[in-house]
Amino acid sequence: MEKNSNNIYPVFDKMIPRGRKEALLGQNSVMIWFTGLSGSGKTTLALALEHKLQERGLLARVLDGDNIRTGINSNLGFSEADRMENIRRIAEIGKLFVDTGIITIAAFISPTHAMRKMAADIIGEKDFMEIYLSTPLEECEKRDVKGLYAKARRGEIQNFTGITAPFEAPLRPALTLDTSVLSLEESMEKLLTVVYARVFRKPMQL
Ligand code: ADX
Repeated sequence: MEKNSNNIYPVFDKMIPRGRKEALLGQNSVMIWFTGLSGSGKTTLALALEHKLQERGLLARVLDGDNIRTGINSNLGFSEADRMENIRRIAEIGKLFVDTGIITIAAFISPTHAMRKMAADIIGEKDFMEIYLSTPLEECEKRDVKGLYAKARRGEIQNFTGITAPFEAPLRPALTLDTSVLSLEESMEKLLTVVYARVFRKPMQL
């Protein structure tokens, strides 16, 4: 069978380049990739960050596990292969946002080195800012906001990250935040320091 990319003629070179879109928006785009256990604070921080950036006149977009899994990835479960495909699609979508000049914030468990490496490779290493929420399992389980840890302990959910499926801590994240010891304000302060250093740009000609 012919490769399905054989008769495809991309027009990337004719499109308005990312730099001009970033200039239009007055910002530098980047992918801010949160990784950590369920309940570690990814969504909370992602949403707080989006609001903060908007207040500062910066355009951002959050991609979040539970939202994406009700839409484009509604056909995927939590096997290793399905999680890989989940992250692959998110990374491809994220790349489109970053290429549009938008500060993109991804909040997915993305539990393995291989998954995060794939995401970084798709998006491009230099545009991939990894933020590790190192909140310990005991704390996430105590919070159990969605009641899923209790279900996993009762054996009602299979392959649950931290209980019956692995989580591999990132080796060189741009930032590590433990929300069991840092308040939301403290975490945000550290986060904004690394993000602001990256996203502001001097006004220039379009
Ligand atoms: S990932 O591993 O593929 O990156 P993702 O971040 O999209 O996961 O989705 C995680 C969310 O799905 C969790 O916050 C939780 O609400 C829900 N969930 C349902 N089943 C599982 C499971 N087996 N393991 C982890 N999370 C699960």
